[in-house]
Amino acid sequence: MFKFKKKTTTELDYNNIPKHIAIIMDGNGRWAQQRHLPRIAGHKKGMNVVKDITKAASDLGVKALTLYAFSTENWKRPDQEVNYLMDLPEKFFSTFVPDLVKNNVRVNVMGYVDQLPKSTQKAINDAIEDTKECDGMILNFALNYGSQDEIVTAVQKIAQKVSDGSLNVDDINKDVVSDNLMTSSLGEFANPDLLIRTSGEERLSNFLLWQVAYSEFVFDDTKWPDYTKEDLMNCIAKFQGRHRRFGGLKNK
Ligand code: FPP
Repeated sequence: MFKFKKKTTTELDYNNIPKHIAIIMDGNGRWAQQRHLPRIAGHKKGMNVVKDITKAASDLGVKALTLYAFSTENWKRPDQEVNYLMDLPEKFFSTFVPDLVKNNVRVNVMGYVDQLPKSTQKAINDAIEDTKECDGMILNFALNYGSQDEIVTAVQKIAQKVSDGSLNVDDINKDVVSDNLMTSSLGEFANPDLLIRTSGEERLSNFLLWQVAYSEFVFDDTKWPDYTKEDLMNCIAKFQGRHRRFGGLKNK
């Protein structure tokens, strides 16, 4: 039995759209299982939702959209599912790059891309190249990404600079750490203003652990394959109802 979602008209303050939204797109497998379909059917529908939400976010004025598409832990899934997930970027970009260009969206990818199959790497690199002149929203895929590994890699890079004499230990600060994380490629939008996780789960699953220090979290019960622009607007409305204080006091 599926419940129909109540349609709401969300009023948004267009002067307060989160600049960077990061999404943990969860629930593909459960969506498929509820319909007695193989899990990959959920990923296939999920890929089409990525297209809709990319367009919606860009239209709403979001500057950077980071999507958790494959974690460093997802390799533990059955081979058939992993292979399908590895083919998704190729399927996605082969049909969607013209729309991305039309909407002035630039593709960025963060993660251990060199460990992905060569054909996946090629699809990613072609999409980055084809959209490099776009200066609207950045569509940032986290692919073979894990935040703890990202931090370890950053520490190694910083330690290397200290060891070769190009950096003093006393000069290591928060900016140095940020500059060595994978999100540094997003420039001023490195840290998400809003983090959304779909499907009702409420955990971070090794996603952007450093970067979400002051993000607002919204957990939405909708499973990713059912997620719509309306749901995104509802999440943004919740963000707009929060009072971000960054550790200070509201009226100071
Ligand atoms: C989590 O749901 C989802 C994933 C691990 C994959 C997400 C990938 C997509 C939505 C498509 C990405 C598209 C491109 C273009 C790369 P789950 O499988 O863990 O769901 P479950 O918790 O219900 O089992």
